[in-house]
Amino acid sequence: MSKPIVIANWKMNLSVTQSGKLAQAMRDLLADEINSEVVICPSFTSLSDVAKVLSGSLIRLGSQDVFWEERGAYTGEESPKILEEIGCKYAIIGHSERRQYLGETDEISHLKVKASLGYNLNPILCVGETYAERNQGQADNVIFRQVVRALSGIDITPNQQLVIAYEPVWVIGSGRPIEPKEAQHAINLIYQAVLDFWPSVIIKNNVRIIYGGSVDSGNAGEFVSLDHLAGFLVGGASLKEEEFLKIIKLI
Ligand code: PGA
Repeated sequence: MSKPIVIANWKMNLSVTQSGKLAQAMRDLLADEINSEVVICPSFTSLSDVAKVLSGSLIRLGSQDVFWEERGAYTGEESPKILEEIGCKYAIIGHSERRQYLGETDEISHLKVKASLGYNLNPILCVGETYAERNQGQADNVIFRQVVRALSGIDITPNQQLVIAYEPVWVIGSGRPIEPKEAQHAINLIYQAVLDFWPSVIIKNNVRIIYGGSVDSGNAGEFVSLDHLAGFLVGGASLKEEEFLKIIKLI
């Protein structure tokens, strides 16, 4: 079984200098062996600097997005090959902020998941319903659809890792996560959906389902005992090294 995973999503919050400093602070704090895999996802412009800071440490590097082609006329996009070359091991795909502001679809997530796996980038696929979808009783349908459309036809081999982050959209950045029992419901749904895709040994060893959305050191403990929960995707609370470390230690 793979270790739990705790992922820092710094979004567009830090300068290159600030990113390097925070990565160094986290590296210093996480010098000892830890129970979980820890991943830091800085902005694209900070990746190279953060890669140098993290080199030789226990902390892995991830990107906040990835394009599905290796090279070509795709202005503004980032190649999975180049992300691999600078040391990324993970790539966030289908984050709700990209779905909301940039019109990313399930079909785009599918292309990105497929491309990432081809370049040794482990996908962190984000799924989750909006407040309106939840109010309309559509939450389960939306989560199921996002998982199935992104992952249908995708092969996971024993040397690859897939992370699926359940992030209810309206609680992201709100300071209040959803109730753990509601997260459990969504996690069970995702678990059931992936059972149809791969043999259980692959799901056990290579697929992790995590929760994201206003996770902090004060509430993470309420989620850690949920069935099939294997970690957290952390935004705001990953911008302070001590706070992030506390979350890591809870799992
Ligand atoms: P948050 O962000 O922890 O600040 O809610 C999580 C995310 O968007 O991945």
